Amino acid sequence: MTEKELFFNTENAENFVNSEDINNFLALSEEARKTLMTGTGAGNDFLGWVDLPGRIDSAEIKKIESDVKRLTPKCRLFVVIGIGGSYLGTRAVIEALQSEFAPFEQERKHPYIIYAGHTLSEDYYAQLMPLLDRYDYGVAVISKSGTTTEPAVAFRIIKGHMEKKYGQEEARERIIAITDAHRGALHAIAEQEGYSSYVIPDNVGGRFSVLTPVGLLPIAMAGYDIHRLIEGAHQAMQEYHRLPAQENDALRYAAYRNALYSKGYKVEMLTNFTPSLKYVSEWWKQLYGESEGKEGRGILPHSLSFTTDLHSMGQYMQEGERTLIETVVSVANSHERVQIPTDEKDLDGVNYLTGKSLTEINHCAERGTIEAHHDGGVPVIRIELTELNESSIGRLIYFFEYACGVSGYMLGVNPFNQPGVEAYKKNMFRLLGKK
Ligand code: PA5
Repeated sequence: MTEKELFFNTENAENFVNSEDINNFLALSEEARKTLMTGTGAGNDFLGWVDLPGRIDSAEIKKIESDVKRLTPKCRLFVVIGIGGSYLGTRAVIEALQSEFAPFEQERKHPYIIYAGHTLSEDYYAQLMPLLDRYDYGVAVISKSGTTTEPAVAFRIIKGHMEKKYGQEEARERIIAITDAHRGALHAIAEQEGYSSYVIPDNVGGRFSVLTPVGLLPIAMAGYDIHRLIEGAHQAMQEYHRLPAQENDALRYAAYRNALYSKGYKVEMLTNFTPSLKYVSEWWKQLYGESEGKEGRGILPHSLSFTTDLHSMGQYMQEGERTLIETVVSVANSHERVQIPTDEKDLDGVNYLTGKSLTEINHCAERGTIEAHHDGGVPVIRIELTELNESSIGRLIYFFEYACGVSGYMLGVNPFNQPGVEAYKKNMFRLLGKK
């Protein structure tokens, strides 16, 4: 696919920053891009994601495809065990592409993906086990460090279940490990057991790892075309590496965020009018929150799904503290058409919508919302995808990743570390008496 599939628009943010400011921030975004591309900034040992879409190993893709082919006929369910960057990108892509009602589909060519290792809720696992009793399943256990408690605990429980259900030999066939090349407990287990394994490159941090086997294996297992996903990201990469800031959507996004932040806009609300984008928002929150929220700085990333949340958070968006930026991820075309039927009596008063599609109505809701929020003092940035498919999602992922690297450097932090994530772990280990 070569036509443009992501459109970036700032017309409803422009009156919140003057053009001189924006030009200064665009110049700063060029500087930050140079720092990123020359590898001269903080965290430069974690830049493996920057040119990743252009150099994904075809042997690795073939191995993924062969594991998918081998496990698909055997598995009704496929459990992805992982947390944070080892889970959110996968879920973002799969949920953006699959039907909201996928669990109810009777005829499925591919396993239905379910998740574990992202919570310590006992009830969650208690509810999961009967499903694993009932349905045939496979597992991908994903952890870069190979030592994270949540996935380690989940894997111990599920591995035990699997060995009981299928026997050790068959369980070994059904488990895939995705982890560090050399270190960590998961690496040791995978070696010892002889699981089909994949490496998470040293220089790609968790939240930037969706285009490594971390995301590619489960996304392919769910039946999606990872070649198109990579191609979308690759096209985005070529554009954002090359274009000058004025014409570069990723740099413009980074520039607007930082310009608005400097004026006191401290919260960015990522909104959508398409509920299947919920996990894109979750992934985006991790990407920006973990990359920028440090040293007492950083825009707070938050998200809402409209029109649902207009009936819960709409009031705050319209009239709450004026420190909000809104970034709308909009989808121009739906895959299906559902029209409003006519009704002879029109007791509900919606005959004026007869013949309109829900997308037309949803777009009017979006336009009305943007206008209202803008007029209420919220700068609104808009990102439009022509439709939801592997290629457009690949492009969106790279757009947000690249803008994040640039934006973090503009903010003056190391966007590629996450020292704060350790604090809760230390306390938890102390409370659990870990030696
Ligand atoms: O982005 C990150 O680095 C984190 O969110 C990690 O992905 C998360 O903590 C899981 O770590 P690991 O893959 O080592 O289990």
